[in-house]
Amino acid sequence: MRTLIVNIKELLQVREATIKKVSGADMKIVPTLKNAYLLIENDTISDFGKMENCHEITADTTIDATGKMVLPTWCDSHTHIVYSGNREGEFVDRINGLSYEEIATKGGGILNSAKKLQQTSEEELYQQSSKRLEEVMTLGTGAVEIKSGYGLTVEAELKMLRIIKKLAENYPIEIKATFLGAHAFPAEFKNNKDAYVDLIIDEMLPKIAEENLAEFIDVFCEDGYFSTQQTDRILTAGKKYGLTPKIHVNQFTIMGGVQIGIKHNALSVDHLEVLDTNDIIALKNGNTMPVALPSCSYFLGIPYTPARQIIDAGLPLALATDYNPGSTPSGNMNFIVSTACIKMKMTPEEAINAATINGAYAMNLSNTHGSITKGKKANLIITKQIPSYNFLPYAFGSNLIDTVFIDGKKV
Ligand code: NIG
Ligand code: FE
Repeated sequence: MRTLIVNIKELLQVREATIKKVSGADMKIVPTLKNAYLLIENDTISDFGKMENCHEITADTTIDATGKMVLPTWCDSHTHIVYSGNREGEFVDRINGLSYEEIATKGGGILNSAKKLQQTSEEELYQQSSKRLEEVMTLGTGAVEIKSGYGLTVEAELKMLRIIKKLAENYPIEIKATFLGAHAFPAEFKNNKDAYVDLIIDEMLPKIAEENLAEFIDVFCEDGYFSTQQTDRILTAGKKYGLTPKIHVNQFTIMGGVQIGIKHNALSVDHLEVLDTNDIIALKNGNTMPVALPSCSYFLGIPYTPARQIIDAGLPLALATDYNPGSTPSGNMNFIVSTACIKMKMTPEEAINAATINGAYAMNLSNTHGSITKGKKANLIITKQIPSYNFLPYAFGSNLIDTVFIDGKKV
């Protein structure tokens, strides 16, 4: 099956296969081709170029993209899409003055979601989660990472990861699974936290490895959650089972989590709403991708990740949604790109790089996703007619997507 897209006003993020991520000043550049065509063969980008070189290409279907932009689909490297119910009650509590931390201390927060999830059948949870997955696909996301972490028992963590596996089997979108058993301490371990760490290491990890349910391992390294020592132990244990580390760090507190991430050669360190120069120095000494989650900052009213400080230090940055019921009940990457420009002073080019190729890197997917490159997956967004790509972040809240292709097929 060959699909030819012609008269593309501007084809964005055209890259050589050797580019795995972009950093620092390079993030200000998004290579493009004006007046272009692109050929999809089955699930792959097989050719593209200037319209003047398009003659003689035959296809089963031809799409006219006059006035429209084509770009790679978004790569959302941080989500918690599998969850049960919602936490709209806590949302109203926060409007009425309670903080996110106060709600968690009262047994709300992650433990509230864990209770709901434990009581929900696998079938029902699959249905709820697949709706969210379908929604983000229509919003232009073509690759997504999904974490466990609302189970917090052996059985419920396995249930979450099996659902992620089933979603990956049933949908064309690329899905990467992350084991986040270390998301919060269940109430029964309140006075013996290390016993829960033992449970993660001795019981959860071997089962997950046996069923091959995850590629990455994550820890919520934060005051009141997992200490740097506990994070270190969990990531060390995860590595023995071949799991690549990612960490939730510096959301509220600077406590050395970034340095633990670098020590373990983490694929990404995520959140970073608070950050100091030692963290920047640590990041400069590694290959770990910093990941900002601006809609979490927006929803909770906490600081935005200092993108300028990170990029101006020569570092790369990725953007992701953090789609979850507590801190970010939205999986809209278009909103993320807008918010990064509006609130974090990222240029449109920086935001597009962060939400495509750098997001792909943070999921180990740079070889197949995140850019318009021959041989990569035909995962494409065709926009509506827009004056320039700056219009994407500028017209925040408008749906500017005409068509999404994932694996060469229309969503
Ligand atoms: O990334 N920070 C930790 N975990 C999630 C939120 C979890 C929740 O509130 O349910 C996050 O923001
Ligand atoms: Fe998260």
